[in-house]
Amino acid sequence: MGSTQERVVAVILVGGPTKGTRFRPLSLNIPKPLFPLAGQPMVHHPISACKRIPHLVQIYLIGFYEEREFLLYVSSISNELKVPVRYLREDKPHGSAGGLYNFRDFIMEDNPSNIVMLNCDVCCSFPLPDLLEAHKRYGGMGTILVSKVSAESANQFGELVADPVTNELLHYAEKPETFVSDRINCGVYIFTPDIFSAIQGVSNERKDRATMRRVSSFEALQSATKTLPTDFVRLDQDILSPLAGKKQLYTYETLDFWEQIKTPGMSLRCSALYLSQFRYTYPHLLASGDGTKSATIIGDVYIHPSAKVHPLAKIGPNVSISANARIGAGVRLISCIILDDVEVKEHALVIHSIVGWKSSIGRWSRVEGGGDYTAKLGITILGEAVTVEDEVVVKNCIVLPNKTLNVRVQEEIIL
Ligand code: GTP
Repeated sequence: MGSTQERVVAVILVGGPTKGTRFRPLSLNIPKPLFPLAGQPMVHHPISACKRIPHLVQIYLIGFYEEREFLLYVSSISNELKVPVRYLREDKPHGSAGGLYNFRDFIMEDNPSNIVMLNCDVCCSFPLPDLLEAHKRYGGMGTILVSKVSAESANQFGELVADPVTNELLHYAEKPETFVSDRINCGVYIFTPDIFSAIQGVSNERKDRATMRRVSSFEALQSATKTLPTDFVRLDQDILSPLAGKKQLYTYETLDFWEQIKTPGMSLRCSALYLSQFRYTYPHLLASGDGTKSATIIGDVYIHPSAKVHPLAKIGPNVSISANARIGAGVRLISCIILDDVEVKEHALVIHSIVGWKSSIGRWSRVEGGGDYTAKLGITILGEAVTVEDEVVVKNCIVLPNKTLNVRVQEEIIL
C-alpha cells in the first residue's frame, strides 16, 4: 500500500487497576472499562463510534490490566464490528502520552496518516468523522475535541483557550486553581504521527536534564523523588500545555453531550445518556412493552435477552438490566443498573441505584438513592452478592460485596 493512501488507526486508553479508584466498589470485580453502561461495556461506546471513521484499519486498546481480562471482549467485538481490535498491555503505567509512544511500532505498522486517540472514561456522541475533517482542514499536528461546561465545574478538567477565528489552541492548563476558561478538553484527539516526535522530545529533555544535573547527593536524592521517569509522559501537562500557541494544535467544539465517568454516580448518568442516544443509533436495543404480554416500559430501557422480567413489573426510565437477571411481579425499577444474575423479588422498588452482580433484593424492599449523581452518597450502590432481605429500606448507601442487610440503613458506607 502506498504511504499517500489515507489510513486511520484508533487508540483507546483504558488505564489499569491502579487507575479508576473512585469507581470502587464496582471496579473490584471488573476492569472499569468493561463496566456496562446502557447494557454495553464502557469501552464499547467509543469502539463502536470508531467504526464510523472513514479508512479505519485498526483499533488498539492500550492499558496495564492483565491481557486475559480483555481477551474475550476483544475477540467478540472484533468479530462483531469486522474491524481488528487488539489489546496491548503496558508492563507499567507510562502516562497517557507515554502509553501511546510505548506502542508506536504497532501503531505505525499500518502506516496511518492520522491516529484517533480517546480516553475510555468519557461519555459523548464521539463526533469522530467531523473531528477528522476539521483536523485535516486545520493541517496541524493535533486536534482536540472541546466542550463548554459551567464555569464552576471547569477546574475539574483541562481548561483551554482557542483562537476564535482559526481555532488554534492558544493556552492549556490542566485542572487549574484559578479560572482560565469554560472550554475544556474532552479527552478525544486526532494526531498525525508527528505526535511521536513530540513525545520523544519530552522524554529526551528529561533525560538531558537528569544527566546535566550537577547537585549534591542529598539534593539528587530529593529531586529524584519529585522527577517523573523519563518514559512517563502525560498528554495534558507535558504535550498540550507546552505546544499551545505554537500553531501545532487546534480545537473542535462539540455541542452534543459530554461527561467524564470517574464515579459510579456518573456511570448511572452516562448510562442514561447512551440509552437516549440509542433512540437514534441502535433503536433495536431499547425495550418496549405495555404490561400485557411483557412488562410496562417507560422511557429508555435496555434488557438483556437472557433476563427474565415479569409482565407485571414496571421498568424505566433509564434502566439497564444485564444477563440472567430476574425481575419479579410488581417490581418498580427507575434510573438504575441491574447487573448480571441479580434477583429483584416481588414488589421491590429500586431507584437511583446500581445493584451488583448476583445480589438479591427481597420482597417489598426499597433500594434507593437521592439521585444526585455527583454526590458521594447520591446514589445507592450494592457490591457483588449483597442480600437485602424482605421489607428492608436501603437509602443513599454504598454496600461492599457479600453483605446481608436485614434492617433499615441510610447514608452509610457498609464495609
Ligand atoms: P484523573 O482526574 O486524575 O482521573 O485524570 P484524567 O481524567 O485527566 O485522566 P488521565 O489523564 O489520568 O487519564 C486519561 C485516560 O488515560 C484514562 O482513560 C486513563 O485510564 C488513561 N490512562 C492514564 N494513564 C495511563 C497510562 O499510564 N497508561 C494507559 N494505557 N492509560 C492511561
